[in-house]
Amino acid sequence: MKIASHRSLLRVFPLLLLAGLAGHTASAQTWHAPNAQLASRELNARVEALLKKMTLDEKVGQLAQFSAGFSTGPGASNLKYDDLVAKGQVGSFLNVVGAAATNHYQHIAVEKTRLHIPLIFGLDVIHGHRTVFPAPLALAASWDPAVVETVARTSAVEARADGIAWVFSPMVDIARDPRWGRIVESAGEDPYLGSAMARAWVKGYQQDDLAKPDSVAVSVKHFAAYGAAIAGREYNAVDMSQTTLRQVYLEPYRAAVEAGAATLMSSFNSINGVPASANPFTLTQILRKEWGFDGFVVSDWGAVAELRNHAIGADDATVARKALEAGVDMDMEGNLYGTVIAAQVRAGTIPESVVDEAARRILRVKFALGLFENPYTAAGPAYEATPERRAVARKVADETFVLLKNDPVEGLGTLLPITAKVKKVALIGPLADDQRQLLGAWAGQGNPKDVITLRQTLAERLGDRLLFAKGCDLLGGENAQSIAEAVETAKKADVAILALGEPGNSMEGEASSRVHLGFTGAQEKLLEAVAATGKPVILVLLAARPLELKWAAEHVPAILEAWSPGIEAGPAVADVLFGDVNPSGKLPASFPRAVGQEPLYYAQLPTGRPAHEDRNRMPLQGENMVSRYVDEANSALFPFGWGLSYTRFSYGQPALSRNDVSVRELLDSGSTPVSTVGVDVRNTGSVAGTEVVQLYIRNTAASVEQPVRELKGFARVTLAPGEQKHVELPLGFNELNFYNVENRRTVEPTTCTIWVGGSSLAAEETSFRVVE
Ligand code: NOJ
Repeated sequence: MKIASHRSLLRVFPLLLLAGLAGHTASAQTWHAPNAQLASRELNARVEALLKKMTLDEKVGQLAQFSAGFSTGPGASNLKYDDLVAKGQVGSFLNVVGAAATNHYQHIAVEKTRLHIPLIFGLDVIHGHRTVFPAPLALAASWDPAVVETVARTSAVEARADGIAWVFSPMVDIARDPRWGRIVESAGEDPYLGSAMARAWVKGYQQDDLAKPDSVAVSVKHFAAYGAAIAGREYNAVDMSQTTLRQVYLEPYRAAVEAGAATLMSSFNSINGVPASANPFTLTQILRKEWGFDGFVVSDWGAVAELRNHAIGADDATVARKALEAGVDMDMEGNLYGTVIAAQVRAGTIPESVVDEAARRILRVKFALGLFENPYTAAGPAYEATPERRAVARKVADETFVLLKNDPVEGLGTLLPITAKVKKVALIGPLADDQRQLLGAWAGQGNPKDVITLRQTLAERLGDRLLFAKGCDLLGGENAQSIAEAVETAKKADVAILALGEPGNSMEGEASSRVHLGFTGAQEKLLEAVAATGKPVILVLLAARPLELKWAAEHVPAILEAWSPGIEAGPAVADVLFGDVNPSGKLPASFPRAVGQEPLYYAQLPTGRPAHEDRNRMPLQGENMVSRYVDEANSALFPFGWGLSYTRFSYGQPALSRNDVSVRELLDSGSTPVSTVGVDVRNTGSVAGTEVVQLYIRNTAASVEQPVRELKGFARVTLAPGEQKHVELPLGFNELNFYNVENRRTVEPTTCTIWVGGSSLAAEETSFRVVE
């Protein structure tokens, strides 16, 4: 088969091919096997030897995955799984958890099937397995890949102890529209930040060695462009240019594949009219041929069968054939591959080599994980949220909070952190004490009882200095009496902390698109009523998606974005409220002024009639023929990269170690930087703090329009009061490349504007030239 021979050739002659690549764009392509384990000769020899012994039906059996436990999608089949496994008709299960349950099926697979091929058990482990951490969007707000790696590592250890060798994570879909409920599972709007997080997830889960007993294989999802669903409506079609697809939406996938991702999951949406789960362009051309991916692709739940609804084939046989031939190797809970593929091979409609290739890819991962040697899981002690686990969860959460606003109020100075001057605190809001909601969306095997709420923590910390009122429910209409009680409670206190947001459990995650991005239920009324008392209000946002906060931003002095913080919600939020931890998170997604701005993101393409640069003001008379809204400013309410601290940071003038470079040198340099952007950052305040130094560039003369700003580097730097550090960020092909009209990654002669600062509004500027 064409792809197989191409790949095996690459295994033998990688250097030869590299040397033979001609033309300016050559160094941009990936021509090596990104996961050495999956490409190893020894492993592939074992796979080939096994494949030779397998019948067609046994090979097809490897391509079928069923949900034999709880259900995470519509129309779950309810089959006699023991029989199916014994007949070799199952390659994998999802939603079977725990040593006993997984061993049950594994014993049948290993002991009763002719060739003793083990099953692989997959599961949605999204932000923790049993220990639930902040939601992925929150983790991205840390701008700290080490934090993500910690979460992935902890999750892998716990999952593997539960028989799970394969996690359906990370979700690396770029999310530029918070109407889409799955923004919670993403790293937000930016491909550079998203790629950094994608690499960290892969490394944390797989540890660069799938064979380790506590490694799990990832399934990077949902390939591809799922987050760009039109109008933010879940499962909707995606229609975008190939340039945007490659440069924005595929970048985190490329990063994950290069980091060695073992599997990918194909998505529900169509891309430019071709369903992603039957898309040869993304699944074979880009993924396998261009990126050299050696792992396997599983469809999303029922996505192969749903191709009938996409109307790309009249019957099951046709759509299953299209999915398999496009490059979907395993059919998740669709039961189509198992029922209609073998007959088509026998009839000569599908070449057997296509089935061989899919089975080969799946077996590679099973071998690499060591499942043939160690198929079973030893029963361990029952899970407990031990102090050690809690300490990790708290430290992680501490890094994810974003201080959006912190104005001074009379008599107290800046409202946060809360000082000893504050005697009585009123804690108000439906999310102050709701364990289930605080666990967040897709909380896996987490237990709401493990969550420590803000009310519990503050009660312990403040004793009778704490007053509490729920104020309203998360959903439903206004209850005048309960709001009145909250108002009375606030009046008795020096400050009011309002814990508001949306129900993470039911309105965030899959199938949770919203057209209204305000607080749910009567929460906005509650906020307005409490603010009207004149008591200083601290708004703690508990929602893992950008909400519309215009009123709050104008009327509330202090706003802390705490997302969906996981089991240590209360202690971690309190750490920041009382200044034990200085907030250091930065927004991974723009917060809109109004839903009508969506999709809103900072890396916009230019227009011929740009709006006035003063981002916060409405247009003046005579400025009407520019790209703007007549009823709202263009800019975000809180922009990408934004986040305050309890201290202040000042930036010096950025300076380059080299100011120009030739196109040729850049192309030849590969991923080695050719210059660095250096900047001095000083803590000018009175407490220690951590700043996320951000590098943005604009390519001002490319053959294809480039965004007005793009993140191209960042570093976290911790500074004592008065301390100054010199920060250097690399600049090279990785930072300067883009896709040209032929859709090749390249560089051209140009001048790039470079900004360094603490958000996407960074003002300190220099420039860099790429010359002929
Ligand atoms: C559907 C979701 O889109 C996907 O993220 C998940 O992994 C599968 N169901 C399995 O539960």
